[in-house]
Amino acid sequence: MAQEVTFVHLTDLHIGDPANDDHLFSDTRQTLEEILRLVATIEPKPSFIVASGDLSNRGDAESYVALRDMMDATGLPVIYALGNHDTRAGFYTGMHGRQEDLEAPYHHDRVIDGVHIITLDSSTPGFIGGSIEEAQFAWLETVLDTHAALPKLVVCHHPPALGEGPDVTHWRHVVHEHSVRLGEMLRGRNVLGILSGHIHHDRVSIWHGIPVIVGTGQHAATDILRTDVLRMVRGSTFGIGTIRSSGLTMAFVPLPTDRAELNVYPLSLMRERAAPVPVAAE
Ligand SMILES: [Fe+2]
Repeated sequence: MAQEVTFVHLTDLHIGDPANDDHLFSDTRQTLEEILRLVATIEPKPSFIVASGDLSNRGDAESYVALRDMMDATGLPVIYALGNHDTRAGFYTGMHGRQEDLEAPYHHDRVIDGVHIITLDSSTPGFIGGSIEEAQFAWLETVLDTHAALPKLVVCHHPPALGEGPDVTHWRHVVHEHSVRLGEMLRGRNVLGILSGHIHHDRVSIWHGIPVIVGTGQHAATDILRTDVLRMVRGSTFGIGTIRSSGLTMAFVPLPTDRAELNVYPLSLMRERAAPVPVAAE
């Protein structure tokens, strides 16, 4: 690994057209343009950009084409993950021009400047919550051995569940039993951190000794002081990561905001579409 590796963490970009989308609450293209202007000023130059899911608001191929064009202009490698707002077909078609095998999960790995970046697909078509299917666990098991000595970043749209058991907020994370399994697989494997989004607020957790970094992202922020509803307010953040031999540092760069209310969702709506895996007490 180079002495220090700098990277950028974007998440929940929700690219779309607010004029034609009732569920897009900010001009996300404009926000991304603004952030990429800031990214271009970062010294030292980032080695890569991570975009950890909810790349599009509607999952339409056009939004991925627009995103690709904007990101290509940075000249930096971009690591994409898929989230619950994405569609695999829209992503493959718009981003890669692919016409077949359009429902396959998008998991992949890549080494950049001595950092092994492993990207999982935690999206669960038709649901809000995250899950990781069996074949992906098998793939992860293999891929963790391929560059065993290199420090690793794991990119996964939904953060893992942090608690001891399933809970009523499971739409916020990878379903509990899959999170437990993921934790067992990643422990002791030189994982510097997990880069996630989905819950739209900046949050750092140490989970089985692994930092789980969640970014607010670029669409809207969650008002975490309201726990009776899901209240979305204006706000965007991106992260700058630095990897040293001592480990990972994440710095958060918030854009100026008035935190005006954008929308309020009842929690019951979120729970109904949490995840397809049965959860006790639901
Ligand atoms: Fe999102």
